[in-house]
Amino acid sequence: MTTPHDQLPVFRSRLFDGQVALITGGGTGIGFGIAQLLAELGATVIIASRNQTHLEPAIEQLRAAGGKADSLILDVRDSDGVKAAIRSVADRLGRIDVLVNNAAGNFYVPSESMSANAWRSVIEIDLSGTFFCSQAVMPIMRDHGGGRIVNISMTLHYRGWPLMAHATAAKAGIDAVTRTLALEWARHGIRVNAVAPGPVPTEGVKKAFSAPPDAVPDVFSVERAMEDYARRSIPLARMGSPRDIANMVAFLASPAGDWITGSIMVVDGGEWLQKGPH
Ligand code: HXC
Repeated sequence: MTTPHDQLPVFRSRLFDGQVALITGGGTGIGFGIAQLLAELGATVIIASRNQTHLEPAIEQLRAAGGKADSLILDVRDSDGVKAAIRSVADRLGRIDVLVNNAAGNFYVPSESMSANAWRSVIEIDLSGTFFCSQAVMPIMRDHGGGRIVNISMTLHYRGWPLMAHATAAKAGIDAVTRTLALEWARHGIRVNAVAPGPVPTEGVKKAFSAPPDAVPDVFSVERAMEDYARRSIPLARMGSPRDIANMVAFLASPAGDWITGSIMVVDGGEWLQKGPH
């Protein structure tokens, strides 16, 4: 989904020329939107995913638009694998300036029936993955005099969100890790911030707006449900786009963010402030 303002050039061209940006989960959804913007602004983007099938079309699209892009097969839960893969990128390209910890997984499940493995999967992808990738990139950034880490969080844990105990716990943990690493690594010139998106209709969010499987088939029902929701629950009256989130990532990764670290920037059209009781 794009919005009319998505087309407006907000940042100066070649802002990230000569820089390398690594985006986990960068093959689809918000991660791909971030990869597109950073590539447009001159960065060499490395998009990482467990899934080669997500990466190939994404790389093709980035290159077709004139971007410098490459892929990395990475399971963010495997700390040794993460260290080796991130080191290989730095060895090949000489640097990593920006890390965007975007990879995430979740599904709705009642807490009373969530299996231990389901809990662990989401905590490990979202929270441990963010920590492992940050830890792996730290010495590379430190040895280059600094870098910028941007974590993708959410707003659902500010109030709680039924059926998402695993994801809300993981994202609350990401906020804590963001602030702690910001304090630990400021002396190395590494800034660590987070962006907390509101609803951006990627596949994960569309699932949440889907009609139950036994409902009368209606191809526009998801779009209508999202429009209704936006009108009722988002003060700025529209769903977000990947570009909305990417713009904040680019801002934080740019010199405009030079005095910002440990911040969690909410980009949600005002949604969480307005949210009524469940
Ligand atoms: C209950 C489930 C489940 C479900 C998986 N599990 N899906 N339990 N309901 N719908 C359980 C499995 O039964 C298993 O436990 C455990 O979780 C691990 O499942 P696997 O499939 O083996 O794990 P894995 O292959 O590692 O997959 C990870 C995943 C998967 C998180 C489960 O969904 C994934 O990789 N998702 C990535 C894409 C994604 O979810 N993107 C969403 C982003 S959208 P048992 O006990 O059976 O072994 C987003 C916006 C959120 O973030 C907005 C919310 C409103």
